[in-house]
Amino acid sequence: NKYTLGMIGLGTMGRNLLLNMADNGYSVTGYDKSPDMLKKLEEDGKAHQLKGFAVLEDFIQSLELPRRIVLLVPAGAIVDSVIQELVPLLDKGDLIIDSGNSHFTDTSRRAEELAAQGFHFFGMGISGGEEGARFGPSMMPGGDKEAYNAVKPILEAVSAKVNGDPCVAYIGPGASGHFVKMVHNGIEYSVMQILAETYDLLKNSLGYNNEQIYATFDKWNNGRLKSFLLEVTKDIFKVKDVKSGGYLIDVIKDQAKSKGTGKWTSQVSMDLQLPIPTINESVSARDLSKFKTLRVALGAALPHPSQKVEHTEEFEAHLEQALYFAMITSYAQGLHLLAQASIEFKYELNLQEISQIWRGGCIIRAVLLEDIYQAYKKQPELPHLYSDESIQKQLKDILPGTRNVVVTAINHGIAVPCFASALTYYDSLRTANSPLNLTQAQRDFFGAHTFERTDSEGIFHANWNENNI
Ligand code: 6PG
Repeated sequence: NKYTLGMIGLGTMGRNLLLNMADNGYSVTGYDKSPDMLKKLEEDGKAHQLKGFAVLEDFIQSLELPRRIVLLVPAGAIVDSVIQELVPLLDKGDLIIDSGNSHFTDTSRRAEELAAQGFHFFGMGISGGEEGARFGPSMMPGGDKEAYNAVKPILEAVSAKVNGDPCVAYIGPGASGHFVKMVHNGIEYSVMQILAETYDLLKNSLGYNNEQIYATFDKWNNGRLKSFLLEVTKDIFKVKDVKSGGYLIDVIKDQAKSKGTGKWTSQVSMDLQLPIPTINESVSARDLSKFKTLRVALGAALPHPSQKVEHTEEFEAHLEQALYFAMITSYAQGLHLLAQASIEFKYELNLQEISQIWRGGCIIRAVLLEDIYQAYKKQPELPHLYSDESIQKQLKDILPGTRNVVVTAINHGIAVPCFASALTYYDSLRTANSPLNLTQAQRDFFGAHTFERTDSEGIFHANWNENNI
């Protein structure tokens, strides 16, 4: 009686995913060096008599052939060292699935190396945190399709469901699964940052206390902004702190950390020359937050305008619109990047299917994704989310309010990097005649880099110093 699947790494995510598989009737086991982790698996998995292994060889021998092994270990060098330990113990045809947040270039390399040795390998992004892993994540597997088919029923069974549809689908060849998960995280960073900017404005412009902030977010979360991130954000404002006697949010340091997936998204977007400025700003906002000493010193040394806003009700309504606008824009930029990556890396991405599996289980699930899914369903080759008619209708409604929020924030000296960049991105994209003819003129002036003309075909160079001066 061998096990159908084995998990390496029994931290919260790995353990919860195993429990989820066991709930769905699969015979599974795990491996972890840490006795505490093995004990925890046995405790939590008592109902299914779940057992893990502390010795890798025993774990490998306990699995049915061809073996299905899922890695849920921290991304980076650890994945390589686990694979190195595993390989001598495996048989040809065995399958390894890396489910961490690995960089897509590492996934491509590992897939090639393992395929050359006769093993199947694919990278799979998993989203949804601890709860998701336990009760239904969204999963983004990409690469070896034959290998994916060998675990498809298991993944579909454990995934989140929306209207009965599983939130997992084969993403495409190569490292596309990890690529899509990386961009998911870029969108996650952006939405988190626009929520932080909204909090700043509610707190400092409107003077709302935590209860009022909770009530506002709660109200919004019953409408078009309904999303996992807004839901958890609103709940944060209810949580009291035993130590200080106040709210926990008020004693948390304002310096944000990150593990890299947002930065990778920005880096790739630069490489592909496909701008995602709002996502970039969300990465920078976390990095800028770390300069606390400098911020305190400059805050004391430099003047800043009053931050209070009048017309509370109107501004609150506009803020809801700005948040929705920036949310649409965050997803639009992520999807635009995916479309470009699909061409560049031959990922064959299906944006309709990707928005479909993001509707449930993952951190960026939101009712907006239903609209996005419908937009790509209507027009699979949609050039940009802004090109969809029903999104355009919504944009027209929310733009005036969004402009008011950005202008007000700027006049009041409140930093809104993501709101402002989302609006500027929008204005850049809906500008038929940009001023970048000047950039080309400058490049030709000092570097003879040539330019194209609006009135005739070809490449031109002008003698700027002599001509018409
Ligand atoms: C998810 C999350 C998950 C994790 C991020 C956090 O989809 O479940 O994205 O993967 O929370 O890696 O990233 P940072 O630590 O960089 O904020």
